[in-house]
Amino acid sequence: MSGYKLNPEFKVDEFIKNYWQQKPVMLTNLIPDFADTISAEELAGLACEELVESRLVTEFERGNYLLRNGPFTEPDFTQLPSSNWTLLVQAVDQWVDEVASLKRLFEFIPNWRIDDIMTSFAATGGSVGPHYDYYDVFLVQGAGSRNWKVGQRCDSNIELVANSELSLLKRFEASMEFDLVAGDVLYIPPRYAHWGVATSDSLCYSVGFRAPSMAEMIEGFSDFVIRDQDPAMRYEDGQIQPDIRRGEIRPSQLDRSYLQLIERFSEKEKFVVWFGCYVSQPKYPELIEPLDEEVSCAELASLVRKGATLRKNPSSRFAFIESAAQASVLLFVDGAMVSFPIEQIQHIAELCESTEFTPDASANLLRKPELLELLRRLLNQGSLLVSE
Ligand code: SIN
Ligand code: CO
Repeated sequence: MSGYKLNPEFKVDEFIKNYWQQKPVMLTNLIPDFADTISAEELAGLACEELVESRLVTEFERGNYLLRNGPFTEPDFTQLPSSNWTLLVQAVDQWVDEVASLKRLFEFIPNWRIDDIMTSFAATGGSVGPHYDYYDVFLVQGAGSRNWKVGQRCDSNIELVANSELSLLKRFEASMEFDLVAGDVLYIPPRYAHWGVATSDSLCYSVGFRAPSMAEMIEGFSDFVIRDQDPAMRYEDGQIQPDIRRGEIRPSQLDRSYLQLIERFSEKEKFVVWFGCYVSQPKYPELIEPLDEEVSCAELASLVRKGATLRKNPSSRFAFIESAAQASVLLFVDGAMVSFPIEQIQHIAELCESTEFTPDASANLLRKPELLELLRRLLNQGSLLVSE
């Protein structure tokens, strides 16, 4: 379990009211006594793995960066200079439970919003240049120190450096500057320009959040709506007048089609289901593997009786929606929905909140036949794992 604790002086309400998705802020010593749970060597080891996404950014001359994508090999690291490079490894929380536990500190924001923890090791002088991201991020400083400058809020019209895969900003107008040491956290809302430079060999954990773009949401919801469309339902003329301008698309024809289309998109219940499924889609579905041999309800109950611990697959995503109108609770796991009577809300909330279930907690859930069946399904599909 996480040994990390938030500084008791941190005022969550104030942070949410004044800064979250609004303004960058330095949260000095947010995580007192912060200790790294991964070393630079272990990070480099991960970056050599086929399934892990990683990048190496070297500033080979002032303002000029070279980007290489992993997986890397050991010589790639032994040949590096002693300064001015950064290794960035995506989704380290998928691979290292202790790093994953850092996410729990930020669950004052609903946990389905958290995406992953990218971890970087930067040798002194290392930087990925001035840029902006589309999502909120908490930059948690580990060992060493980094200087961060935060600048203007950008939009997609902002000029970028030509011919750079790094999407670097042509102009960076710093308005704030912070020096971070272990346990300090810099919060940056979406689209704020930022630029970090290691002032000593240092580790940084970027706790990033998910925010689908409008284009992704329109595409995703349209695909969902399309699924139950009857091919017999077509465009229809309705009442039309004969004989006037033959090439004209008439207002009544437009209105009718427009209304037909809008109706399909304004079904809130459908949207609710789609949204839950969409935001619970795993980032790395290939890391959620079904069991070779399915477990039955009796086998699962027996495993738990014998003291097995159930825990969530670190790649799995759980969320729920309370539907008071329907007296039900909708559980979303890895992009699929199961509905339960509202009486189960406590259990479903617990399932979404915890990462691990002691045998006692599991036994409690298994007492309800529908939850036993749910856990069996989740175990068989790989969303839950069992350790005996
Ligand atoms: C870094 O870890 O140095 C880069 C993180 C970021 O700016 O998003
Ligand atoms: Co960034």
